[in-house]
Amino acid sequence: MATLIKNGTLVTALDEVRADVYCADGIITAIGPDLDGRRQAGDEVIDASGQLVFPGGIDPHTHFELPFMGTVSADDFESGTASAMAGGTTTCIDFVIPAIGGSLVDALGGWHEKAAKSVGDYAFHMALTDPSERVLAEIPTIVRDHGISSFKAFMAYKGAIGVDDEALIAFMQTVTAAGGLLWLHAENGDAIVERQKRFIAEGKTGPEWHEPSRPAILEGEAVSRALTLARLYEAPIGIVHMSSRDAYQAYAEARVRGQEAYAETCPQYLVLDDSVYRKPDFEAATFVMSPPIRPAGHSEWLWNGLENGLIHTVGTDHCPFRMEQKRMGVNAFTQIPNGGPGVEHRLELLWHHGVGGGHFDAQRFVALTSTNVAKMYGMYPRKGAIRVGSDADLVVFDPTKSRTISAGSHHSRCDRSLYEGFEVTGAVTSVVANGRVQLREGDLRVERGAGRYVPRAARG
Ligand code: URP
Ligand code: ZN
Ligand code: ZN
Repeated sequence: MATLIKNGTLVTALDEVRADVYCADGIITAIGPDLDGRRQAGDEVIDASGQLVFPGGIDPHTHFELPFMGTVSADDFESGTASAMAGGTTTCIDFVIPAIGGSLVDALGGWHEKAAKSVGDYAFHMALTDPSERVLAEIPTIVRDHGISSFKAFMAYKGAIGVDDEALIAFMQTVTAAGGLLWLHAENGDAIVERQKRFIAEGKTGPEWHEPSRPAILEGEAVSRALTLARLYEAPIGIVHMSSRDAYQAYAEARVRGQEAYAETCPQYLVLDDSVYRKPDFEAATFVMSPPIRPAGHSEWLWNGLENGLIHTVGTDHCPFRMEQKRMGVNAFTQIPNGGPGVEHRLELLWHHGVGGGHFDAQRFVALTSTNVAKMYGMYPRKGAIRVGSDADLVVFDPTKSRTISAGSHHSRCDRSLYEGFEVTGAVTSVVANGRVQLREGDLRVERGAGRYVPRAARG
């Protein structure tokens, strides 16, 4: 069965044009002014009159079914990719996080098992939590034989999955030599632990102490240190979930002096501020994530980075925990599982606040939500493009339609939304993934196990 999207305006990272798109056998087979002649009996037709058609969104940062801080994130690969699909994200890149002392290849096997139930396509990054001889030896295999060319190390989470500078240097050298790209969670783990212990001893136990325990200056320091080491060891690196002015300024300075480096930010750092931590009745725990939501003013720097191209991608860091899980930290904010939902709302929030807010145009929107991600992670032009031969992943988007975001209507299993009550103008109306209509006028018809693994090329 084939799918025809008629009368829409195709928007890519380069330009826009009125055209129909015909999809068969999972790929785009024709693009042109009037493709009605190709229609066969049984084809599904979407009339996109007055609407925009984007390449399927690619979220470069999710954590489905992640064992973390004594519990497991609330969306598995089925509900997580369904939630993504409902919001126009047809591919998610999830982080394999190996246990300390474990093998990367074994951990990857576990992630493949969990991901087999995905409704949308998926790829993986590999987290490096332990600089053992075995892990370092496995890195080239992971790139060469398993289609994973991006890695992440944690400078935070000391005593758990965090690593020290010696490990960081080993990872930078090994990943670069293997043709991979190392991304960093940049926060100073030692200072955070000192502050957390002191705050708890002083009786400062509520979620409102999460941000002060890991202030922006500690993100700036870690970005600066990582970039200094990366410069010395000639390693390209990226900074994930950049949240603050301090981090952005350290990063921009390195870019200005010519260093190869990349950056990702997230909607929560663009549209929220730390007033969320003043919510009563432990509701503030919803927003306990790392890095934390920053005081007002930091987001302007991140918007600047998206405008001037220094920040390349927007991921959600979707890592949802239900309130009953968050309550594990009711007596100490340090025990609140870190993370929040968001995979469903990336496109609509970025359209409303980014394009609607005058920060960038529709082309940059497509670049940030899809094309840049596909290019950065070795999936382009299979993904991230509207081209004959590309995967038929397409989003039909009504720029005039408004909706209100709520945990009551989202498709994640999380019982909270970071954006509860937010009104956005510009809404995903239909989604085609691998040529099949997955969302039609708001009606989600996904299929467990229909998603495919997308292996990725090493960096050239
Ligand atoms: O709080 C967060 N971000 N949880 C997920 C793990 C990570 O650091 O990305
Ligand atoms: Zn992180
Ligand atoms: Zn994350």
